[in-house]
Amino acid sequence: TVMYGVFGDPVAQSKSPIMLNRAFQVRGINAAYAAFHIKPGTLGDAVRGIRALGFRGVNVTIPHKLEVMNYLDEIDEHARRIGAVNTIVNDGGRLIGFNTDGIGYVRSLKEETGLTLRGCRVLMLGAGGAARGVGYALAREGAARIWIANRTVSKAEELAGYLREYTQADGIGLDGIGAIRQEVDLIVNNTSVGMSPNVDETPIDTSWFHPSLTVSDLIYNPMETKLLREARLAGAKTHGGLGMFIYQGAYAFEYWTGQPAPVREMREAVEAALR
Ligand code: ATR
Repeated sequence: TVMYGVFGDPVAQSKSPIMLNRAFQVRGINAAYAAFHIKPGTLGDAVRGIRALGFRGVNVTIPHKLEVMNYLDEIDEHARRIGAVNTIVNDGGRLIGFNTDGIGYVRSLKEETGLTLRGCRVLMLGAGGAARGVGYALAREGAARIWIANRTVSKAEELAGYLREYTQADGIGLDGIGAIRQEVDLIVNNTSVGMSPNVDETPIDTSWFHPSLTVSDLIYNPMETKLLREARLAGAKTHGGLGMFIYQGAYAFEYWTGQPAPVREMREAVEAALR
């Protein structure tokens, strides 16, 4: 049995074991994937454990995605540019770090909405760790311009400065959206506003939403946030956060096994577990 796992704190709520064990089962691979609660200060030991125990791969989640980079033998160029690792491949004792969050996000967005990202003008809400990977992936897909609106403007400006290496980018405050909203094709919520249990909140005013917008939310609990509901009622195209989770896992599966991920069955397993 080939061993896999996810390192996080907290980790008990993670749907990764259900999703990846289903993927191994569908592909007939003799493997097991478990959740490991890795507390602060023990991550280095845990990563050395990957080598000692001969695990083939590990996913890394909050709060360890940055610190884990210190303990790896090699970091993929994209993960290095994003500054975070969520997937480790154990290549015969050599640990290599990847980031599948951003590419998972854009693959899900493209497959579920059919949106053309080349030339797209994007308003990203939030400037935290998730926004960094998503912004990097959108810029590399050819987004023409990215505005980052954040409650803390200095963090929006900092993220815009980083993305300017790849595309035209500006950091603004949440109160600056009125001035640019007519120019936007895609809105992406990277904040935690609207996440269960605070399901009655939206990060921005939605009264101006219109049918030619696409609105995307990284939150998948609830599967349809208030932001997405209001976008749908305004006739806009919507995209929920479950796809990003599914496809970041799908890319990890493909890096580990070299086989195409059974995406449909992975999604069914996660949806059943969320019900
Ligand atoms: P993650 O790694 O998931 O991106 P994070 O780095 O903590 O998490 O980022 C959370 C994002 O949600 C930030 O952009 C945060 O805004 P600030 O930078 O101003 O803190 C945003 N956020 C969280 N709660 C918010 C709220 N109540 N209103 C507006 N923005 C909020």
